Formats: sequence, C-alpha cells, structure tokens
Amino acid sequence: MDHEITLVVNGTARRCRVPARRLLSDCLRHDLGLTGTHVGCEHGVCGCCTVLLDGRPVRSCLTFAVTVDGAEITTVEGLAGRDGGMSAVQRAFAECHGLQCGFCTPGFLCTVTALLEENPAPTDDEVIDGISGNLCRCTGYQNIVKAVHRAAELLAEEA
Ligand code: FES
Ligand code: FES
Repeated sequence: MDHEITLVVNGTARRCRVPARRLLSDCLRHDLGLTGTHVGCEHGVCGCCTVLLDGRPVRSCLTFAVTVDGAEITTVEGLAGRDGGMSAVQRAFAECHGLQCGFCTPGFLCTVTALLEENPAPTDDEVIDGISGNLCRCTGYQNIVKAVHRAAELLAEEA
C-alpha cells in the first residue's frame, strides 16, 4: 500500500506516493528526480546520502520517507545562494580542492553547512569531529578540513 506524503524540499512542497519501506534517499533521487544526493553504502556508514532534515544532517539511506512527512529537507541542490550562485561552503570546497571524484561531496557539503551553522568558527579538532561521519576515499581529508575553515571565513565576511 502506498502513502501520500508531502516534503518541503529545498523550499518547495513536493507531494509523492511512496510505499512505507521507501527510503528517503530513493524518494529524493527516484521519485523527485534530485540525484545530487548520492548513495554509497546504503547502510549508514559512508555519509554520502546526508541531507538536512529541518536543518539537521541525517542519513537519508536510513530514513523512511513516510516518517518525515511534512518535514523540511535540504539537499545539495538547495544549498546555492538566493542568487543561484554557489554557497560559501561550495565555493570553499572548490577553492581549496576539497574534492576529487566528488562522489562524497554532496554529503560533506550538507554536513559542513549544518556544522558551521552550529559552530561558525570551529577548531581543527571540531572540524574533524564534525565530518567524522562522512567518508572520502580520495582526498585524505586535508583539503576538506581547509575548505571548512575557508568556508567559515567566507561566511564571516558575508555576515
Ligand atoms: S549511503 Fe547512506 S550512509 Fe552510506
Ligand atoms: S572526493 Fe572522492 S570520495 Fe571524496
């Protein structure tokens, strides 16, 4: 049996019919066409599928879509600024080469966006702790850590 749900995704209300077992990651990618959210391990380890649920990072591969009916979801597609340009976090990742293959990047961008919202000037240790739930197979993390600090600077300049 399918369930009718409404998700406010990147500021827009989206309705869809999903079976009770539909994962939020599959709902976003397949039902709503938002393929920016990536799926790696599909069992809660890698963090690739991270999206913001009412502003908090969650693993969309561990979340049933029906359980978040009515919630606000932000995916990587929704991180851009109001003018459509890249967000400070996105610009910092580009500037600091915080990505190589980029597969993990949408999850990092969502995680780091929430991290800096909560802690606008994190220390190195706080950054490392904050991104510890996201795995990257390419970068060795050094440039990702640099990118988080650079994003903090850019956000402070914008404030
Ligand atoms: S795909 Fe969700 S944590 Fe890996
Ligand atoms: S850039 Fe390739 S997995 Fe992170």
